[in-house]
Amino acid sequence: MDVNKQPILELKNISKNFRSIQALQHVDFDLVEGEVHALVGENGAGKSTLMRILAGIYTEYEGSYYLDGKEIQFHSPHDALEHGIGMIHQELSVIPELSVAENLFLGRQPVTRWGIIDWRSMEQVAQKELHSLGFDIDVTMPLERFSLGTQQVIEVFRAILSGARVLVMDEPTSALSPAEVKQLIELVKTLKSQGRSIIYISHFLEEVVQVADRTTVLRNGVSVGTLDSQEATVDRLIGLMLGREITRSTHPEEIGSEYQETLLEIKDLNADVFSDINLNVKRGEILGLYGPIGAGHFDLARALFGLYKFDSGSIILDGKTFPHGHSARYAIENGLAYATESRRKSLLLDDAIYRNITMPHLSKIGTLAPQRAKELAAAVPAIQQVNVNPPDPLNPVGKLSGGNQQKVAIARWLTFPPKVFIMSEPTRGMDVGAKSEVLGLLRKFRDEGYGVIVASSEPETILAVCDRIVVMSRGRIVSRLENKNLDKDALMRLI
Ligand SMILES: Nc1ncnc2c1ncn2[C@@H]1O[C@H](COP(=O)(O)OP(=O)(O)OP(=O)(O)O)[C@@H](O)[C@H]1O
Ligand SMILES: [Mg+2]
Repeated sequence: MDVNKQPILELKNISKNFRSIQALQHVDFDLVEGEVHALVGENGAGKSTLMRILAGIYTEYEGSYYLDGKEIQFHSPHDALEHGIGMIHQELSVIPELSVAENLFLGRQPVTRWGIIDWRSMEQVAQKELHSLGFDIDVTMPLERFSLGTQQVIEVFRAILSGARVLVMDEPTSALSPAEVKQLIELVKTLKSQGRSIIYISHFLEEVVQVADRTTVLRNGVSVGTLDSQEATVDRLIGLMLGREITRSTHPEEIGSEYQETLLEIKDLNADVFSDINLNVKRGEILGLYGPIGAGHFDLARALFGLYKFDSGSIILDGKTFPHGHSARYAIENGLAYATESRRKSLLLDDAIYRNITMPHLSKIGTLAPQRAKELAAAVPAIQQVNVNPPDPLNPVGKLSGGNQQKVAIARWLTFPPKVFIMSEPTRGMDVGAKSEVLGLLRKFRDEGYGVIVASSEPETILAVCDRIVVMSRGRIVSRLENKNLDKDALMRLI
């Protein structure tokens, strides 16, 4: 990076609080033309808040903001975009039913001189733009036909087509498969080579050290340092993020179960998206279901819990055969717990943390007064066990950072522990510290004699905790392995 270049954008001495929470304190951040500046930090460190200020979403803050050396204040995201700053959020804002071209021009479709939407020129421009960046996509197809990774790419293009020269990407890869991540990283590099400037937020530090020219670390709302690419290693970033050392375990210390008893048996399970699934989970073991998004493992997890229809086969938990077409309520009452990969669907974001935790257990807690006191008494130990931060049980879940929301989704099942935990992407969107805490929790469940199923597309997560691994591809089991002497590449090759 050319250090003599003037920053195109500078945030100076930024502070922001949400009532009692000091989300940012005196943070300085700048961006130079043509650089990738990464922003990392634990869940709740303040990354999204800082970027929301930058992108005109939060208009109330202390400190000053300069664009091309001139002080400025944005009044809305639209205003920020008019000045060339586009933000790509983790939750996609594209519309799946519309075509790629329509999505790209959403809200600003070109019109002919007769005042009607000019489809032809829209499609031509879209096709040409995508092609120039190395993407050969039929822009007339509905967006939903494409993978999540491609949809994410479209989201990026949309910002570019609206004239963004600064792109803010908040955890763009957290829901993508490894191949899609590669594609996106390549795109970031291409955009950079075209002179665009990018702010890149991610919990995948390997990715960060690959793409970033500089990396700024936030800890508890304070900027604790900016490293350039020669200085930034994964371990140094972790040290700065946490202010302490953690043991990054890449493999379970010991594998193999001391129990022999089978807890869960799945026989010949078939549905539209998976077939011939035969599996069992022993007491005291973690079974990994590994595969790319679309491999059927997430739907299989849902089917076990009664949320996805299967056509034939049987599910036997602790000797008891589930009736065909069982409900989620039945699954809960008989000892299954399930945390979905899409957190936002399973949490009531406006409701208090404690309500989110007690929600599936109200029939056990009872609904007689003192209702709230009983619910709090049930929820608080679970909140402590997973270390939700901040731990106030009355706080709405929506006010927590992404990683802490995920902890609530897990804590929910600790009030009345099940026999088998099924978790899809248990660590998606979590920082290294939170990740190691959650993986630690899964090991603890195992050691206490529960059965655990982890469905994931992240090889790191699977390798870090699973005793046995079942690899799925296109709805079928393609391989079964003990987690011994395996590495990420070996695992990825199996799909
Ligand atoms: N709208 C809000 N109301 C109240 N508190 C908020 C709000 N948004 C964020 N916070 C709090 O501000 C702090 C910073 O949150 P922020 O979302 O910026 O973290 P983050 O670094 O993006 O975390 P993650 O990696 O989990 O996404 C957290 O303590 C969070 O609980
Ligand atoms: Mg965030």
